[in-house]
Amino acid sequence: MEKFKEDFLWGGALAANQSEGAYLEDGKGPSIIDTLPVGEKRKRSLKDPGYAFEHTFDYYPSHQSIDFYHQYKEDIKLFAELGIKCLRTSISWSRIFPNGDEHEPNERGLKFYDTLFDELLKYNIEPIVTINHFDTPLYLAKEYGGWKNKQLITFYKRYCEIIFKRYHKKVRYWITFNEINMILRNPFLAGGLLSNEKEAIFQAAHHQLVASAAATKLAKAIDPTIQIGCMLAAGSIYPYTCNPKDIQATVERSREQYFFIDVQVNGAYPYFSQRYFEEHAIKLELSKEELTLLAENTVDFIAFSYYTSRLETVNPELRNNAIEGNAMISIRNPYLKDAGWGRQIDPLGFRITINEIYQRYQRPLFIVENGLGAPDEKINNQIHDDYRIDYFRRHIEQMAEAVKDGVDLIGYTTWGCIDLVSAGTGEMEKRYGFIYVDLDNEGTGTRRRYKKDSFNWYKKVIETNGLTL
Ligand code: BG6
Repeated sequence: MEKFKEDFLWGGALAANQSEGAYLEDGKGPSIIDTLPVGEKRKRSLKDPGYAFEHTFDYYPSHQSIDFYHQYKEDIKLFAELGIKCLRTSISWSRIFPNGDEHEPNERGLKFYDTLFDELLKYNIEPIVTINHFDTPLYLAKEYGGWKNKQLITFYKRYCEIIFKRYHKKVRYWITFNEINMILRNPFLAGGLLSNEKEAIFQAAHHQLVASAAATKLAKAIDPTIQIGCMLAAGSIYPYTCNPKDIQATVERSREQYFFIDVQVNGAYPYFSQRYFEEHAIKLELSKEELTLLAENTVDFIAFSYYTSRLETVNPELRNNAIEGNAMISIRNPYLKDAGWGRQIDPLGFRITINEIYQRYQRPLFIVENGLGAPDEKINNQIHDDYRIDYFRRHIEQMAEAVKDGVDLIGYTTWGCIDLVSAGTGEMEKRYGFIYVDLDNEGTGTRRRYKKDSFNWYKKVIETNGLTL
């Protein structure tokens, strides 16, 4: 039995802010991520952006990053050799509107994405585009208070109109916001918010939901063939024990995870939202028109990232020992192996997660991030990353099982098909790619590219449409 459809989109994924560099070039304005340093200071800045604003750091990894802005032609040539059918990347909002609130776009920014998409299409690589991936223009955060300000909907719509009109013939799949639920854990990165206050977070998320629905409406008016997706940071949440209290805690945490996707897929706030808002003292400002917009403009597909599963319990001792993986916090699962950086490896959890999402929504799914961040060793210009091959093999096996289960899957893009800057820590040495980039955590290195062993392995997987793992 064939596991994947003929036109299954095997690919890789990047984000502008973590790969392009050239942070003020050709008229680009700074984005929120450009204020962030590396390591512990980055973690502190993410929790308290005021700390980042008040300090000048020695090194900002996004400013040059892996220099994809200048090296994209060579990189895309390598992607073509890898055989990927699609590349997920994002458009940097502040390349198009440097401050975010202008009326006229920056033509040089628009030109860059024209040439980037053309270069991909030259090799039959389909661009998959995220409209806002952790890089709201800095000006909108500082002057408008980020997404808690309703005016951002207008600015985002203006940005969407420009890019849909310009690129709709080149780009079919669009994702309105990267990991929309990330705003709950990381309000600065995902929402340009300067505080962690819950009511402001939900108000900001509401504005993003409205903006996403407005973008969907706009896209369909410009070109009805455009496919719009929402996206969540996924990973099933397991109860730590069979104590019903742990089960209830798990149900509640899962609801938080799916809260915004429920709106984007079903067109309305979920049935449990009223009680949730009351118990958390959240009073949303929303209008009838906004609710109608949400109801009438739901998404075509659901995109998500999967790195690991998570555990939930009411046991305070266990909760205090939780580990922080990426922005998500979880209790260590004794059945799983550690992957470093607070993450654990759970391939079966991938199948469980895919099925959980499909069962909940019954809409086509697109896995747009999955991968292993690990330090690689380059010896004699070779990188033997069998651990990465093992990770992918076991995850793709489980993805194939989910397809056999009957899930409708559009494609699979691995995170960081080329090494890039980590969003969470700013490190380069948390490497995800099939292509190694000679650059370290301090910004030293030639930025030369080298194929890892996993490069040839993934190439075979794609060539055989997932039959050779
Ligand atoms: C996802 C983000 O949360 O995880 C990416 O969409 C990010 O931007 C990825 O890079 C991996 O996390 P990290 O912190 O290792 O870069």
